[in-house]
Amino acid sequence: MAIFASGAGSNAQNIIDHFRGHRSIKVGLIVCNKPGAGVTGIAEKENIPCLLIEKEVFFKGSAYVEELQKRRIDFIVLAGFLWKIPSALVLAYRGRIINIHPALLPKYGGKGMYGMHVHRAVIEAGETESGISIHYVDELYDHGQTIFQARCPIERTDTPESLAEKIHSLEHSNYPTIIEEVIDLQNQR
Ligand code: GAR
Repeated sequence: MAIFASGAGSNAQNIIDHFRGHRSIKVGLIVCNKPGAGVTGIAEKENIPCLLIEKEVFFKGSAYVEELQKRRIDFIVLAGFLWKIPSALVLAYRGRIINIHPALLPKYGGKGMYGMHVHRAVIEAGETESGISIHYVDELYDHGQTIFQARCPIERTDTPESLAEKIHSLEHSNYPTIIEEVIDLQNQR
């Protein structure tokens, strides 16, 4: 699989740890759009090739489809990746790209809704719970079919930062196992 990430990469690290030594699933590539992002350091430390992608090529060119196929990538996991996936890539990997979103979709999704922006909006709206959504990726932001959701309560004393911690912990305990289940399901087809 390839992990697409733009930020610190705590989910990427957690997924790499989960699949280390796995009999049939391997993290073979990190794809990143931000030079210097934390996840590029993780790729280096873990000895995983890292592909830094350019906006022009991604959105107006090949969307890196051939590059991914050449590297024998069968499955794409988005883990804090902030660009919309172009339709050429969705088409080439339909049903084989999944994303994690740090809220209970369909609420708090869409353009601009990522990371702390999501947690701030959830707290400001006075929600009493939030959670994570893992879903297939289609041509629209945060829209494809839901695979899994998990919830956590929000206390009056919670801040966007404390909520982010709760969400990260939900993500870390669930994303790798859901990825494994989805890939196993694909392989049975
Ligand atoms: C995660 O919480 C992920 O759900 C979120 O970015 C964070 C990345 O953290 N993704 C989105 O907001 C996508 N809309 P990480 O870099 O520590 O894995």
